[in-house]
Amino acid sequence: MERVDSRQKLIMLPGPTNVSERVMHAMQGPIINHRGDTFRELNKRVLDKTRHLFQTNGEVVVFSSSGSGGVEAAVLNLIRPGDVTLVPVFGEFSARLAETVEMAGGEAIRVPSDYGKAPTLDQLKETMEHHRGFKALFLVHNETSTGVAAPYVEEATKLARDNGAFAVVDAISSLGGYSIPVDRWGVDMCITGSQKCIAAPPGLALVSVSDRVVEFLKKSPPKTRYFEIPRYLEYAARGETPFTPALPLYYALDEALSELLEEGLTKRVERHDKMSALLYDGLANLGLNPVAEKSVRSKTVIASYYPQGFDDVAFRKSLAHDRGVVIAGGFGPFAGKVFRVGCMGNISYDHVDTTLKAIGETMSAFRKA
Ligand SMILES: Cc1ncc(COP(=O)(O)O)c(C=O)c1O
Repeated sequence: MERVDSRQKLIMLPGPTNVSERVMHAMQGPIINHRGDTFRELNKRVLDKTRHLFQTNGEVVVFSSSGSGGVEAAVLNLIRPGDVTLVPVFGEFSARLAETVEMAGGEAIRVPSDYGKAPTLDQLKETMEHHRGFKALFLVHNETSTGVAAPYVEEATKLARDNGAFAVVDAISSLGGYSIPVDRWGVDMCITGSQKCIAAPPGLALVSVSDRVVEFLKKSPPKTRYFEIPRYLEYAARGETPFTPALPLYYALDEALSELLEEGLTKRVERHDKMSALLYDGLANLGLNPVAEKSVRSKTVIASYYPQGFDDVAFRKSLAHDRGVVIAGGFGPFAGKVFRVGCMGNISYDHVDTTLKAIGETMSAFRKA
């Protein structure tokens, strides 16, 4: 692995993920006037490359915030008090999304499933029939907490649109590892974060905005200042952002998106396919069972049950300290029982191999102890 800093471990978290030396180096660019031509050019470049990632000719907005800011922006811009909103809930992030809708005064209709599964498309269809006139569907594509990916973004988007509703997709932990062509599929807002499959440092949220949303916002201005999308679009028309942008992160995002475009989105997605298959196979060879059912297994986050009797904190600590590989623990009901491995961004054969070896050796050491 390319190491910028000798303290750098192999980061196999479900975000943030490993950032190349080239991208890290880009952050050392000069502090410039964000109301000057150099920034305007940088911003325009970043927005153009972001359009490529979302496969859109429409509007995109970059917020200097983590991914949650992008989610909050989507909710605050679309939801008004009393708006009925469908939210499939199958893990921590989708549960949080439903709460965010309620905080904005919306009525969140939760479409539930057991964790490790995703609500079915038929469940979504049925719920839509019971709540005709609903305002929006807010779908988390990839439930990072359980390693489950909803395998029907296109179909669910179409269902929402056929009902006259907006379709919003949280693809924070998936876009770039998966292809989500927002224009072709009709996704009204798609949200991602810089620190996942884009392989930039954390701190930026990227959001695509459809023409329908732009028109809606003209008639119904949102009640938020920092996340006010019409204001971002107005400033973007002259190459600027309404508020001071996180400049070093813009430099990094520019470079990370160049890396992504140089590889090509299709190839990058194929690489995520291959590497996740190797990770699932390798963990199965170690006798480990994934949390997700096969039909909904995520390609970017692999959640696996521990063998009986393993201590989660001690295991991950040993993996990080003794083998230099950092993975994540489980969430909510899975805390202590599950570990999660990210398969994102710069994921390579070397990363997969090193991780599987480290997990296997640590398991052996734990069994002997
Ligand atoms: C699906 C999903 N939504 C939202 C978030 C929140 O993003 P952030 O931690 O960047 O605010 C995450 C973070 O992992 C996520 O995976």
